[in-house]
Amino acid sequence: MSTTETLVPALDLTSIRAKFPSLSQTVNGHPAAFLDGPGGTQVPQRVIDAIANYLSRDNSNTSGAYVTGRRTDAMIAEARAAMADFLHCAADEVAFGPNMTTLTYAMSRAIGRELKPGDEIVVTRLDHDANVSPWLQMAEDRGVTVRWAEIHDEDCTLDLADLAAKITAKTKLVAAGYASNAVGTINPVKEIVALAHQAGALAYIDAVHYTPHGLIDVQALDCDFLVCSTYKFFGPHMGVLFGKREHLQRFRPYKVRPLTEAIPYRWEYGTLNHECIAGITACVEYLADLGRGSSGMRVPHPFDKLRAGSSALSKGGNDAAGTSGVKTERRSAIEAAYAAIHEHERVLLDRIMTGLKKIPGAKIYGITDPARFEQRCATLAVRIENHTPLELASQLGDRGFFTWDGNYYALNLTEHLDVEKSGGFLRIGLVHYNTVEEVDRLLAALREIVGS
Ligand SMILES: Cc1ncc(COP(=O)(O)O)c(C=O)c1O
Repeated sequence: MSTTETLVPALDLTSIRAKFPSLSQTVNGHPAAFLDGPGGTQVPQRVIDAIANYLSRDNSNTSGAYVTGRRTDAMIAEARAAMADFLHCAADEVAFGPNMTTLTYAMSRAIGRELKPGDEIVVTRLDHDANVSPWLQMAEDRGVTVRWAEIHDEDCTLDLADLAAKITAKTKLVAAGYASNAVGTINPVKEIVALAHQAGALAYIDAVHYTPHGLIDVQALDCDFLVCSTYKFFGPHMGVLFGKREHLQRFRPYKVRPLTEAIPYRWEYGTLNHECIAGITACVEYLADLGRGSSGMRVPHPFDKLRAGSSALSKGGNDAAGTSGVKTERRSAIEAAYAAIHEHERVLLDRIMTGLKKIPGAKIYGITDPARFEQRCATLAVRIENHTPLELASQLGDRGFFTWDGNYYALNLTEHLDVEKSGGFLRIGLVHYNTVEEVDRLLAALREIVGS
């Protein structure tokens, strides 16, 4: 048995799927197959319970001098600590917001107020528009020059040489994605961050698509900012921003005067969606439990004692797992969870790629060579001759398969590959709760639809 086999617990799909109430639905008598993870994942019961419990017991605004106000403050501190474990940073480097797009608009405005004509920023052709348009609009307002990093068309990977060439002494920021929500390419983010830093530029990473598939470690990446959305990794509809403490302190947010200047709160405008924040802790705990290799039972871990005091941060506190030098038990469990998720998704990816390649007239965009599967996740963009992506998605939808068609806001990519006018791609997105059986049924349905 190899070391990897010893360390990686296999996922128990039956018990995992039983935790997600929505997965047992049927459509026209067919079992529903949720292959739409890139658009948003389903949630386990504990997330639903956490949201409902907050609303039924603790519902309040923050900082109230009464019990539900205090419970709300404590709950938000718990969620921040959970995200600090998830991202591997300090809790005061985590800011919540409605979604990634809104957070990125806010941050682009704050960064933009420091920039001047002649400064440059770099965006990529592969990115979701939420990591492009906020920067383009800021650049237009500030007279900043925008440079585009191109892709290798044949496998939809980022052209790193081109990216390096677009970064100059004038570059102030590089905005790049961790993984493509259209074609599944995983970018070498650490390398991109290093290229940005060599030029003295900031690196702003959109990790929205990567989070259900791979472990995030902002310390290892050394990125300046990283954004994600919990609804893409089994949680509620919320956005989360990591910013290095020095940046969250130095940049000036557009904010109302009574809002504190303390980080991270100065980046959290208005009243947040508290019930969804309650769901964030539950979603991180769901993932951690996957790593604990149980169906909800907590396995004691040697780090448990060290962890005391590092997670439930009081308001204004700035100690955290990420900076204490001690990895929390939950962080270790999250790491184990992603190792197991990776193994399972790899099986699904092999299976679907093999099957899709056999469908007559099918063209798969992105990396198709199994030897390079470490550079992609199980998100597949496909076109099939004589069928529009919408026709395919609709016919699959009638049979209970939830896929997506169009550009999914990866508009620069669909335009560049000249598929935008003809309906974009059919997107099949697999996450850890999907099964080999679902993949096989999908392939059979596709074969039936194309008549092969
Ligand atoms: C890669 C990527 N980036 C950004 C976004 C935007 O995220 P949000 O809906 O949280 O604004 C999405 C949403 O689909 C995405 O897939």
